[in-house]
Amino acid sequence: MVIIFGCTRKAAPTIPDRPIAPVAGNKADTADFNSSNPLVAGKAIYEIKCTKCHKAKNVTDWTQDEWKPILNSMVKKAKLNDLQISQVTQYVNAHAKK
Ligand code: HEC
Repeated sequence: MVIIFGCTRKAAPTIPDRPIAPVAGNKADTADFNSSNPLVAGKAIYEIKCTKCHKAKNVTDWTQDEWKPILNSMVKKAKLNDLQISQVTQYVNAHAKK
């Protein structure tokens, strides 16, 4: 099956290595992976790639400093590429406990 994204804008190459069906109940859509807005792409990664082993954790439960070691280990578990790591990190930093 070929998935064609309707968007013609030359977005950053953030297509996941394989299409992942959105998890029921999650708001993010696989198309959001292609967003040129790192916060939108990061949210999609968080809600889709980071929910394979556990439910989406509350981003606001940890500060940026507390997130660092957690994210370090989780991005490996989620097998994210460098761009996805950057996007999900920006998403987490934007919403971490202040
Ligand atoms: C391959 C499985 C797997 C994937 C993918 C995964 N995690 Fe986890 N994660 C775990 C396990 C196992 C734990 C520890 C048990 C728990 O808290 O559910 C955990 C715990 C956590 C915790 C709690 C840490 C703490 O100190 O309490 C956070 C936050 C977290 N993960 C975030 C993420 C984020 C963000 C992603 C995506 C980048 C992600 N996880 C992807 C397996 C995974």
